Amino acid sequence: MTSAPAAEFVVVANRLPVDRSGDDEEPWRRSPGGLVTALEPVVRRSGGAWVGWPGQADLEVDPFTFDGVHLVPVALSAAEVAQYYEGFSNDTIWPLYHDVIAEPTYHRAWWDAYVRVNRRFAEAAAAVAAPGATVWVHDYQLQLVPRMLRESRPDLVIGYFHHIPFPAYGIFSQLPWRAQVLEGLLGADVVGFQRVADAGNFARAVRRRFGYDTKAGSIQVPVEGGGTRQAVARAYPISIDTETYEELARRPDIQARAAEIRAELGDPRYVLLGVDRLDYTKGIRHRLKAVGELFEDGRFAVGDATLVQVASPSRERVAAYMQLRDEIELSVGRINGDHGTVGFTPVLYLHHSYPREEMVALYLAADAMLVTALRDGMNLVAKEYVASRVDGRGVLVLSEFAGAADELTQAVRVNPHDIEGLKEAIMAAVEMPIDEQRRRMRALRRRVRDNDVAAWSRRFLDDLRRVHEARS
Ligand code: G6P
Repeated sequence: MTSAPAAEFVVVANRLPVDRSGDDEEPWRRSPGGLVTALEPVVRRSGGAWVGWPGQADLEVDPFTFDGVHLVPVALSAAEVAQYYEGFSNDTIWPLYHDVIAEPTYHRAWWDAYVRVNRRFAEAAAAVAAPGATVWVHDYQLQLVPRMLRESRPDLVIGYFHHIPFPAYGIFSQLPWRAQVLEGLLGADVVGFQRVADAGNFARAVRRRFGYDTKAGSIQVPVEGGGTRQAVARAYPISIDTETYEELARRPDIQARAAEIRAELGDPRYVLLGVDRLDYTKGIRHRLKAVGELFEDGRFAVGDATLVQVASPSRERVAAYMQLRDEIELSVGRINGDHGTVGFTPVLYLHHSYPREEMVALYLAADAMLVTALRDGMNLVAKEYVASRVDGRGVLVLSEFAGAADELTQAVRVNPHDIEGLKEAIMAAVEMPIDEQRRRMRALRRRVRDNDVAAWSRRFLDDLRRVHEARS
């Protein structure tokens, strides 16, 4: 095994920023997804290391360099994938933290696997980090890592960013291991959240559980031997690589592809778009219900509107996801059966993921983007749509339960549970005068340009440095 160089900056996340391709010539491919899009440029610039799971059970790989980033794979057995990843992370924490939209499952064996795997990630990070290095831990799969790292490597500067919501105490307190999770997170110098409300929920949980002093997001954590150390809980809304989306959207071939997509759809009057991982938090069923009813009510007729729904496959072995897929596919079939014709399809459902170029073409082809999440940490798709609309056109319909709603205030705001309200919002979006589209889109685009992913990571890392310096 090649020994890893000591890194001054280490990212620790459940997944590596690459996937196995199945091609021997080029065995790894850069993976899609918000987290990778957000972080990879930051790590590359700093010449750092990335610790993560290579995405398949029982895959043991030595550390290697990909696209200028030092990758440190953490292997998981098939049982660990079932218990730590599909089980505790995605069938306990994920539904619990998304306000119990689906019922969380509590299994002690899953928790044991979670502790074991978190320790493995912490050990891998400790082994690759240079003395005094900055380690940035990411997301709900690794909530115990900050404390484990602090115990083994008190010299490190430790940051943690939570990409999903942090629920109110009344919900969080269901978790049988709530105290251990809070202690795990408090190992970080800065615990970052998407929304001000998430940071508040976390600080309140710490106060309720441990009685620590938590003024204005500054938490006094008792240390062994007496005294306290400061941990900061604050909101850092994540963003996207805005410029890349703008550049793609300006490419003539991608603009041509957008026109081609509209033509291939049979040139409907309006193109509506949904882009999500196939997840019950995204409100895909609510969106389908609203669009289906607009046809039923006769507000849309043949040729009026096509909803293109990209639903990328996700966590397919978790029961709640299997059930959701069945429900969505049933619903799409019904709508198309009831309202389609030989030449017209009301809902084009695509159970795939696509390269970024195709996504931007879809964004440019869409008159309205429907983001109807029931609960979502941020929703980067909303930001990608806005960044891609270099033509100033298009309307974003955005759920108030997505973190992006705090910043993207010029969107058409919806409560996705209110189907009548959602139908009105969709109609308002497609009928919105061009002037108003442009006015709103200008404000939205300014926001996404000012807070891009580089600004996000700068804000987080500057705070991390400040908190650490105040301590030493
Ligand atoms: C969300 C989470 C990420 C996760 C991604 C994809 O965005 O916040 O941590 O990586 O979903 O889910 P998956 O289970 O495929 O990693």
